[in-house]
Amino acid sequence: MYRIVGKKEIAFNTTLFEVEAPEVARKALAGQFVVVRLDERGERIPLTIADFDRGKGTITMVVLSVGKTTKKLSRLREGDHILDVAGPLGNPAEMVENSLVVCIGGGLGIAPIYPIARELKARGNKVISIIGARSASLLFWEDRMREVSDELYVVTDDGSYGRKGFAVHQLLDLISSGMRIDRVIIIGSAIMMKVTSEATRPYGIKTIVSLNPIMVDGTGMCGSCRVTVGGKTRFACVDGPEFDGHEVDFDELLARLRMYSAEERLADELYMQ
Ligand code: FAD
Ligand code: FES
Repeated sequence: MYRIVGKKEIAFNTTLFEVEAPEVARKALAGQFVVVRLDERGERIPLTIADFDRGKGTITMVVLSVGKTTKKLSRLREGDHILDVAGPLGNPAEMVENSLVVCIGGGLGIAPIYPIARELKARGNKVISIIGARSASLLFWEDRMREVSDELYVVTDDGSYGRKGFAVHQLLDLISSGMRIDRVIIIGSAIMMKVTSEATRPYGIKTIVSLNPIMVDGTGMCGSCRVTVGGKTRFACVDGPEFDGHEVDFDELLARLRMYSAEERLADELYMQ
């Protein structure tokens, strides 16, 4: 059992959990995730390790309540326990040195991009970050992102905070300013990663995305996280979650993410009754 030692609402429908998981914290690296099961009848869901404290033996997860399991999790309180926290899973984020890296976190993607930007900065890279959300109420960790970035840009779709527009607009401005960008890392919704990867393609800028397909076991056995990258079948849980954004078949990913919409809606409705 894994005890929740901290809980905080950090944006609309978005909750930060600090959970005692010393074995996970000891090995966690930026870019990895855990598979969580709340109770014996619960489904397994993947959540990114947004931060970890090896000394305290805790990991931090930021959870957006979208359906039954994430809503159930958001109702747990400090002192409550989670049945299983399996991890760290997935490959750590690929690290580079002596590079100018643009780190983009869209919506909930701000949480997983944070430890990656921090590690890149710690290795001496120049880190320019762009964080964005639909509106100001969904933004979080501007302060944390500022700490680990040489420059930070904030955008919202509706213009309620920062620049009005999408992260891709800010990125295109940076590119057209003549900046020599070595790599772009994008974490956000599948559609946002698709659009932003397309924007860098004509410039030949290496573009990394962290994919979010449906996962069950997180260890390469069930096949549910199957994605097509460069024409080859890959399992995001063991081969990723990072892939070359110019090689990913995003249309297939988007279709597979919607595969169980009817069942998910029903589970949510029954849970909320
Ligand atoms: P549901 O109603 O069941 O699903 C809502 C939507 O979430 C679905 O349409 C589908 O697109 C997606 N989804 C559903 N089940 C899964 C599943 N088993 N695996 C992946 N996606 C699913 N969310 C966060 O809030 N914080 C995170 O840090 C985070 N990290 C993730 C890391 C990885 C590697 C992946 C693959 C996903 C991550 N997610 C994260 C997404 C999170 O797992 C889903 O939002 C969650 O599983 C939804 O479950 P639900 O029952 O609340 O909603
Ligand atoms: Fe089962 Fe990746 S989650 S193979």
